[in-house]
Amino acid sequence: MKPDVTGFFDDATNTISFVVKDPQSDSCAIIDSVLDFDYSSGRTDTGSADEVIEYVKKNNLRVEWLLESHVHADHLSAAPYLQEHLGGKIGIGENITMVQDTFGKVFNEGTEFQRDGSQFDKLFVEGDSFHIGQMRGDVLHTPGHTPACLTYLIGDAAFVGDTLFMPDFGTARCDFPGGSSEMLFNSIQKILALPDETRIFVGHDYKAPGRDDYAWETTVGAQKSLNVHVGEGKSQAEFVEMRDSRDATLAMPKLIIPSLQVNMRAGQMPEPDEEGDVFLKVPVNKI
Ligand SMILES: [Fe+2]
Repeated sequence: MKPDVTGFFDDATNTISFVVKDPQSDSCAIIDSVLDFDYSSGRTDTGSADEVIEYVKKNNLRVEWLLESHVHADHLSAAPYLQEHLGGKIGIGENITMVQDTFGKVFNEGTEFQRDGSQFDKLFVEGDSFHIGQMRGDVLHTPGHTPACLTYLIGDAAFVGDTLFMPDFGTARCDFPGGSSEMLFNSIQKILALPDETRIFVGHDYKAPGRDDYAWETTVGAQKSLNVHVGEGKSQAEFVEMRDSRDATLAMPKLIIPSLQVNMRAGQMPEPDEEGDVFLKVPVNKI
């Protein structure tokens, strides 16, 4: 089964959102949507999400799932906005509870912030399956970048989120709380064990040096031979050394503070105050 896949590239955060359509029906899923956020002004904007809504409506698609590969630290999820306009169930990995626990503490959330994943419609574990029309999706737990990261294998297409990036760029960072380069290496082996012709769709692209265009589609075979971090049978020890030393040099993503607070709530803003105003926190010297 070969789903129709359309990618939407967000320039501001280098994120790719996907619409994945069952070739035999009008059913689809949306993976890793983006709510635009301007940190300087504290304003949200639905431009990116509206593009996806327009595409879905123009093609008369029925949205069954709004899937998150993980709690993103670099962009806000538009899942609740898309749900309001298009329907669909919001799904994420069960280990979201670990992420909620960690960042519930970092942001000093009160007891009203539930850490049981109940903000989401579905919590997936390894081995779960789901349907988009007639098409089956399978869930692989692929932690390392975060503890809750999932890969959604839908027909011949694997949506790997932030695990592998394009072969010339390598892999995702592992230095967020709960991340682990050892774990990411093992998760990547799970993805690379899929048939060589499996299509791989990556969650971000940063245009590796020497490449002119953004790209988000590759294959397991290409990753195995060409990936600059894990290709040609690199060992776990080699990978861990490279990944950890590189991570030590990376700055935090610009939107990590708003993204975590919103995404750990399934894309909802924190509860408004008595006046109906919404605030996000900035923890000082904690991230
Ligand atoms: Fe990420």
